[in-house]
Amino acid sequence: MTEVLFTNIAQLVTPKAGPQRGAAMRELNILQDAALLVRDGLIVWIGREKDAPKSQQTHDLGGVAVTPALIDPHTHAVWAGDRLSDFEARVEGVPYETILARGGGIRSTMRATRQASLEELVTLALPRLQALTASGAATIEIKSGYGLDFETELRMLEAVRVLQARTSADLRPTLLLHVPPEENRAEYVQEVCHILIPRLAHEQLAEAVDVFCETEAFSVPETRAMLEAARLYGLKFKLHADQFHAIGGTELACQMGALSVDHLEASGESQIAALAASPTVATVLPAVTLHLGLPAAPARALIDAGACVALGTDLNPGSAPIFSAQLALAFGVRLNRLTPAEALTAATVNAAAALGLSDRGALSVGQRADFLALRSADWRDLPYTLGANPIQSSWIKGRLL
Ligand code: NIG
Ligand code: FE
Repeated sequence: MTEVLFTNIAQLVTPKAGPQRGAAMRELNILQDAALLVRDGLIVWIGREKDAPKSQQTHDLGGVAVTPALIDPHTHAVWAGDRLSDFEARVEGVPYETILARGGGIRSTMRATRQASLEELVTLALPRLQALTASGAATIEIKSGYGLDFETELRMLEAVRVLQARTSADLRPTLLLHVPPEENRAEYVQEVCHILIPRLAHEQLAEAVDVFCETEAFSVPETRAMLEAARLYGLKFKLHADQFHAIGGTELACQMGALSVDHLEASGESQIAALAASPTVATVLPAVTLHLGLPAAPARALIDAGACVALGTDLNPGSAPIFSAQLALAFGVRLNRLTPAEALTAATVNAAAALGLSDRGALSVGQRADFLALRSADWRDLPYTLGANPIQSSWIKGRLL
């Protein structure tokens, strides 16, 4: 048994455990002069330091604020090649969707990723994950989706497995069906349902399936077929939807009980109403708004309607070259009009819910001891700071990162 009492916490700040919706997203517990007792990676006691139980080992955190570690529920951290020419073209006015329709964009990353070996993919992804963990993320979802061919999709997921052995963050792998092949797409969807999904469920290479449901990607019926296959094989499922057009992906996800719908920049009133009435988490990705110049997802309206909103980086080469979960949280406040308290909830317990996890995201008894010690005594430095790291140390299962 290992037990450590963390002391000298000026301010211990946390949402309540479990997904929080609507106005409850603003209700943080704030405890002054606190201490935290961790046993075997889990929180076993929280309270005022003067009431703390005795422990053989103590660690003085130096009078700073402590928050739960962040959870990044949406990344594409494994890729090869770059999108620097796309970036330049977009800045000069060519839309993201036009680049994709011409065979560039995601398809160009697919060409580069297909040519990369397993070890190359791992070597490229590792520093990206190190940057995300240094920015406060203790749990990171990683999607495949730059393979198209099954061999490369499986290699990307293998890369996540290899990466898990080289990082202390908890990595959660997702199969992403990103764009259809240019020919034989009906056959491709059938093979995804009957070959790829059963195989990776059997080999436990992914725990969830995600589909990019969009005019330039998969249609609603294609998406439904692949989500049904995921469900049949016991995998969780989620969607990229309403990024450019609201073609019905959000409604489908809510009907089928998806864990989350991510993007939502083009969502309108009926999509907001569907999410507010369903347990499906609405995940917003502010870096995409910034990088692509898209409208911001209507997080304010979603919360006001009672939805459960999460925040993610969407780290990827094309739409969100953002290597910081803290910065995504800070942008969520500016671009999506979340309050600081809502943003913390969105990036912790609600992000956990977007991954189907209930054992983390809050500082409460029984939860994983994943937490951040900030550089200051006021937790609001976490959403406030832009471009410097307000985190002094990250602790994952009670161990220093
Ligand atoms: O979440 N929109 C689809 N997929 C990614 C972008 C991937 C890329 O451009 O390489 C996203 O934004
Ligand atoms: Fe994405």
